[in-house]
Amino acid sequence: MKGVVLAGGTGSRLYPLTKITNKHLLPVYDRPMIYYPIQMLVDSGISEILVVTGGRNSGDFLRLLGNGKDFGAHLNYTYQEGEGGIAEALGLAEHFAHGDRICVILGDNLIEGSIRDAVEDFRRQPAGAKILLKEVPDAERFGVAEIRGDRIAGIEEKPERPKSHYAVTGIYLYDASVFEKIHTLVPSRRGELEITDVNNAYIREGAMSFAYLEGWWTDAGTFDSLLRAANLVAETRRQEQETPAVAVRHA
Ligand code: DAU
Repeated sequence: MKGVVLAGGTGSRLYPLTKITNKHLLPVYDRPMIYYPIQMLVDSGISEILVVTGGRNSGDFLRLLGNGKDFGAHLNYTYQEGEGGIAEALGLAEHFAHGDRICVILGDNLIEGSIRDAVEDFRRQPAGAKILLKEVPDAERFGVAEIRGDRIAGIEEKPERPKSHYAVTGIYLYDASVFEKIHTLVPSRRGELEITDVNNAYIREGAMSFAYLEGWWTDAGTFDSLLRAANLVAETRRQEQETPAVAVRHA
């Protein structure tokens, strides 16, 4: 399986922090934001990774990350012109994926634990897709899953009245049919190709599985969530230093 980190977009919600740099290069506690999704993939056993960048500072990703050897990974890069949405950015990974399955991580998503178990489960799944859900108090900020029994009935993107408290995290596992689905998308009201439309296409086919993510999860795309992310990382590091043998939690 290959990995894709989506780090395009302009980060306008973090202006003026993003006036002269890309959101994913901003610090989260002691590391640049982009380190966390890359490390998440490497820790799950995925080392062939495409980074989709965008904006005016894309050259800085290469200077920061190089070929990925500091992570024990092989990094590849591509560039998204404009910010046509998460699914548009993912569409740029078609040649890189080359028919293989992919694990996609949004460049502003951080977790406490590991996605290794979810990745292993998806390897055993015959086809389709898998997403990871997390219970949150502010579901209206995210894609929200409607759950009926042991399946997802649908996902709504940033609903005014969420049908559950389960946010769809920015961690997605897809088979090769994801690119055919992206080709059929039309822009949403906000003018973007939505990853939620891709996920709903899998749900309609009955080909979407899901798991609940353990440990904390946060995005870092607003002032509040960026601060929260830094505090969560700092607290986790402190706990690890106090109890170095702490068990790694799995998704
Ligand atoms: O964090 C999880 C949420 O991420 C999901 O629950 C939502 O369903 C999903 O739509 C997304 O919502 P956001 O509004 O938080 O997405 P945002 O526009 O902040 O983009 C998240 C990341 O995706 C961003 O850090 C980089 C990448 N991205 C985004 C856009 C719009 C791109 O690479 N290109 C883009 O054009």
